[in-house]
This record gives sequence, C-alpha cells and structure tokens, in this order.
Amino acid sequence: MNEHRLLVLTLWLGTTVCSSTPLPSRVSPDASHPERLAAARALLDESPLVDGHNDLPWNLRKFLHNKLHSFNFSADLQREKPWRAQSFSQTDLPRLRKGQVAAQFWSVYVPCEAQYLNTVQLLLEQVDVIKRMIAAHQKETIMVTTTSGIQREFHRGRMASLMGMEGGHALGSSMGVVRSLYDLGVRYITLTHKCHTPWAECSDKTPDHPNSPGLTPYGKKLVLEMNRLGMMVDLSHSSSQTARDVFSITRAPVIFSHSGVRKLCPINRNVEDSILKKLPDNGGVVLISFYNEFLTCSKYANITNVVEHINHVRNIAGVDYVGLGAGYDGINRTPIGLDDVSQYPELFAELLKDSRWSLQDLKKLAGLNIMRVMDAVQEVREELINESPSEDIIPIHDIDARWPCRYKFASLDHDLA
Ligand SMILES: *[C@@H]1O[C@H](CO)[C@@H](O)[C@H](O)[C@H]1NC(C)=O
Ligand SMILES: *[C@@H]1O[C@H](CO)[C@@H](O)[C@H](O)[C@H]1NC(C)=O
Repeated sequence: MNEHRLLVLTLWLGTTVCSSTPLPSRVSPDASHPERLAAARALLDESPLVDGHNDLPWNLRKFLHNKLHSFNFSADLQREKPWRAQSFSQTDLPRLRKGQVAAQFWSVYVPCEAQYLNTVQLLLEQVDVIKRMIAAHQKETIMVTTTSGIQREFHRGRMASLMGMEGGHALGSSMGVVRSLYDLGVRYITLTHKCHTPWAECSDKTPDHPNSPGLTPYGKKLVLEMNRLGMMVDLSHSSSQTARDVFSITRAPVIFSHSGVRKLCPINRNVEDSILKKLPDNGGVVLISFYNEFLTCSKYANITNVVEHINHVRNIAGVDYVGLGAGYDGINRTPIGLDDVSQYPELFAELLKDSRWSLQDLKKLAGLNIMRVMDAVQEVREELINESPSEDIIPIHDIDARWPCRYKFASLDHDLA
C-alpha cells in the first residue's frame, strides 16, 4: 500500500518535472539508423520496457524435462546444446540485457492436450521451474509482482520477472486454483488457449463445441473473482464473443498478452477493430505479438509489419492502449530485424522514423501502458478488499460428460445436478 502510494507520487512528480523542464529533444525522423538506434537505447535506459509474454519455461519442460542443473541462463544459448538447434529458442539473459528488457512476463503454459487430465500438476511444476530458474540467476533477475517492483529493479539495473498463466483449461474450473495462483505470484490468466474451457470459448475452430458462445455464467463469475483478486484477465486466444462478454462485465482493465490485429491478418486469433474500439472505455491494452503468422498470415514478416500492427492499434484505439508481447520462445518464425530478445531497441529506432511517435508515446508502448493497467487492476483489488472470495462451483452439467475421470463428491454432485 505504502509502496504503491510512493509509486503514484513518483510518477506524479515525474510528470510534473517533465512538463516544467524541456524533454530531451527527439531525433529527427530523417536521422540515420545509428542515430535513431542510439536515441532508442537512451529512451529504454530512461523508461522500462515490459514484455507481456515469453514461452521459455515451456522449452525448459520440452528440452530439459525441467532439469535445470545444466541450464545456464547467463550463457549465450545460441552456442549451447540443445538450444542452438531449436527454431523456438530466442531468449537468454545476455540477449535480454542487450534488448534492454526491464521486465518479462514468463508464461506458465499448460497444453490443451492435458485438459481434464493432470493440468493442475503441470501448472504447479511450471511455476516451480520458473521460480527455480529465477532463484539460480538472482544477480540478473528477480521475481516481482507489482509495478513498484519493476521500477525498483529497473533503477537497480536488474531485470524483473513476472508470471502470467496460459490458459484457463488448466484451472480445473476452480476458483480455489485461481486464488492459489495469485498467492504463488501469478498476475495474469489467459482465459483460453487453443481449446474451449468448460466456461469460455476459444478463438480456434475445434472439433468439440463450447458449452456456450463466449462465457458461461460460471465463466463470468471467474472473471469477477479475478477482478476481486487483482489478477489480470488476458484475452489473447479467446473468441471475439468471449472478449465481448468480458468487456461487458469486467470491473478492471483487461490485456491481450500476445496478439496481432485482424485487419492486417484476418485470423480469429487476432483482435477485431470492434474490440479494439472498446479499449479506451475499459482502459486495457493489446500487447503485440511478433509471430510472423499473426503479422502477415504468412511465414515471412519483417520489422515494418510489427510497426503496422502497433500503428493500427494506435489508429483505432489510441496510443495508450498498445504494448509489446512478442511471444519469443513460443514462436519459430520471427520478423526480420526482430529475430530475438536482443532486438527490441531496433523497433523503437524504426518507430522514430515516424514523427507521430513522441518520446512519451514510445515510453507508453515500451512499458508505461501495461504498467498503468497493472496499477489499475491493483486499485480494483484494493477497492474490493471487503468483498468475500467466491464460493461458486462449476455446474456439474458443464463438466460431467467431458471430465469423467475425477474424484466425485456424490452428494455435492447430486446437489449441483
Ligand atoms: C554461465 O555462463 C556464464 C557466461 O558464459 C559464465 O560466466 C558462468 O561461469 C557460467 N556458469 C556456470 C555455472 O557454468
Ligand atoms: C519489409 O518488407 C516489405 C515488403 O514485404 C518492404 O516493403 C519493407 O521495406 C521491408 N522493411 C524493411 C525494414 O526492410
């Protein structure tokens, strides 16, 4: 609470200082590439870059079975086995430093194939492997859960690590699991991955049908519980109807942790303009993915395509509603010029070619927008502090046929039927 107040004060003082003293002047849009890159680097030294989605932890599972004894995150993984041979590997600490990443949300991912099986175990094991990875590299990164933690570590020159959970199928449809994840330090939940949950429809076409288009009544209760907790609701991978349902009930801003825009690449996984238009009222943010297939609907993309997606959110919603969620280590084709986590400054150098982008706008894109959302979500938690935890249980008919192998409380299941 005090820490939070201090941050608000610091930000407020920061604003005052900025408006009364001249800002460092912005390089000309016609400046050379080295000049723009130097300006981009100076900007990211001054204001934190926060990326909303990185899938490295799932690679620890796939490549190392979560055995970290031989994993050296401080090494150049481009030279290390098994990473050097993997098209899905674009992340290590030296390159994060070169990329001036101040804070990274690590994805606590569980595959849809595990739905109705051992998802909660996999979830906990992914939280565990992230925590062990961070603990083994404390000089370079540390776990935080708040924007004041991000700011504190930014000023110390140490990268902040945060956790976001992907996706809702791994929750066992349980309010208790959501609350426990919050206690473990997870700060967003992607409502769906590529499968419908018993309470939310995903954006992918799947052989099975959702229990309802968008959110079921229980899905709405889960969102309200996330609001109460201060858990960000992530709508990447959700269907448009799920997104619309969330916008109509949420008490806090939402995020899209790694998405593109549908206007530029018409796939269901990308965000429609009609939904982008809801962002100013909601206060949420779309963090742009760097996956070629979301950018151009093809295997090829370059840095210009990322700029186009960012500018489209800016044009439709505004500069306050866009950020970065590259999705590195979960993608195997990256835009030319943004090949790995070391290249974020190149994106800012590219945007400096466009006179519409002021230094303050670029800081918003880099991290201030997602941090504003984190603070707003935290404020909602504080406002709702007297509300009781939800004791709702998913209706039995929403899960019974799909999830036969589970422990059944006979009388309870009967009551719910
Ligand atoms: C990890 O890699 C760094 C950079 O190459 C090196 O300095 C350090 O000694 C390595 N740590 C271990 C435990 O091998
Ligand atoms: C990206 O590719 C397009 C063609 O697809 C091209 O017009 C553009 O100049 C490229 N951008 C850069 C920075 O090379």
